[in-house]
Amino acid sequence: MSPTPAPGGPAGPASCDFVVFGGTGDLALRKLLPALFLRDAEDQLADDARIIGVSRADVDDAAYRAGARAGLADHVPDADPVAVDRFLGRLHHVPLEFDDAEGWHLLHGLLKNRPLGEPDPVRVFYLAVAPSLFGLICERLEQVGAVDERSRVVMEKPIGHDLESARAVNDAVGRVFDESQVFRIDHYLGKESVQNLLVTRFANTFLEPVWNAHWIDHVQITVAESLGVGSRGGYYDRAGALRDMVQNHLLQLLCLVAMEPPTVASREDVRDEKLKVLKALKPLTAAEVDRDTVRGRYGAGLVDGEPVASYAEEVGVPDTRTETYVALKAEVNNWRWAGVPFYLRTGKRMDRRLSEIVVVFKQPPHAMFPHSEGVNEANRLHIHLQPDEGMRMHMTAKEPGPGGIRLRPVSLDLSYAATFEQRLPDAYERLLMDVIRGNPTLFMRRDEVEAAWTWVEPILDRWASTPERPRKYPAGTTGPTAAATLLERDGRAWQETDQ
Ligand code: BG6
Repeated sequence: MSPTPAPGGPAGPASCDFVVFGGTGDLALRKLLPALFLRDAEDQLADDARIIGVSRADVDDAAYRAGARAGLADHVPDADPVAVDRFLGRLHHVPLEFDDAEGWHLLHGLLKNRPLGEPDPVRVFYLAVAPSLFGLICERLEQVGAVDERSRVVMEKPIGHDLESARAVNDAVGRVFDESQVFRIDHYLGKESVQNLLVTRFANTFLEPVWNAHWIDHVQITVAESLGVGSRGGYYDRAGALRDMVQNHLLQLLCLVAMEPPTVASREDVRDEKLKVLKALKPLTAAEVDRDTVRGRYGAGLVDGEPVASYAEEVGVPDTRTETYVALKAEVNNWRWAGVPFYLRTGKRMDRRLSEIVVVFKQPPHAMFPHSEGVNEANRLHIHLQPDEGMRMHMTAKEPGPGGIRLRPVSLDLSYAATFEQRLPDAYERLLMDVIRGNPTLFMRRDEVEAAWTWVEPILDRWASTPERPRKYPAGTTGPTAAATLLERDGRAWQETDQ
């Protein structure tokens, strides 16, 4: 998908100043710094590359480095100590109150503090803060003169909380940065298995002729997490699963399954094709929202044998209306997919962590083995995104032996771990290097984000206008029973196992 064969690709180390707003936050410590460290350990950062954390915390470089060291110890436990020391030497921290001019000048001074005569390197401004601050930060950066045509801004989702606010954020950022400098991150697009989905579809010939409504009965996309909301309750209770997962990750996965082959797997071509899918999503009426969507919220339960609290207790909001689970039926109104339902579901505190796409093919048009034992099941392609990346194609075979024909389900397996025997890089490793190198293929364009909100908004509106609350499901289960009914009504069932 991206032209780069390894995270970040083969080109020489990229010189840059990588500025992280929210530099002491959870995302920075858990994902961004470990990802940059792992790329640095592979010599993909230039000798003079710097990483500058910006936050309200009153910490100096030494304290910031100590915090980062602890974060790396947690998230990259087998890190080479020499590489860790080299990486920590790149880190700086600038304490900054957004409305205080001094911090901005401090930041700009640090950015300008480069050897005389050398051109400014690429500047990446990573906004790992609330979206309401995106516009303000960009404006201030421009005011102090920190933005030039080689600067890039990276926005973490959520971008807004509905279409209008997303437009406002995009407008505000767009007043400072050209769209070509804006990188809207959806980390699902950086996952190896997600990129492999495109390679599987478009670098092979056997699937494409059957990848359509003639041969495919329906598609299921599941992103289940066993974790709860943890320390992110404040954000999550305002967002909910539809905004947090469906509007971005699940719709992006749907796009990759449903899109037409782009001319080349780079830049605008991929994004153009994804946009066409988003625009072809059939809008849901209020009655369809009532019928085709299910929302749930976890109560107390057992996860991995351990008792866990209910969502309301976890976030400390007894009368919360926020959903932690969504299942819904979507349709892509175009020639290829007419009449093929896409069932999407995602939830927290489920019985296990599992993300997969299941493509269920139609039954053979004619039952040729009517007197055989066993069942001629429909073919299914399971694309495992996590935790065990790979694919499994379910088909029917003849059980060996004399006498009549006995049919037996068998599977063709591709396990990434067994096939490639190498560490699979985290999605952020690739995506951050793509930003530094200026490759936007795996990032969402403004029109994609807004098209996704356009489709999601009637669901949000309908949910907000009914007194109904999300259905309760015990933590550690597969979600509310109504989600099963959603498919049963259509004569189908969720694929709970890949057997
Ligand atoms: C994030 C959501 O975008 O994705 C989180 O905000 C969610 O709520 C996370 O837990 C899931 O990502 P992954 O890579 O662990 O599946």
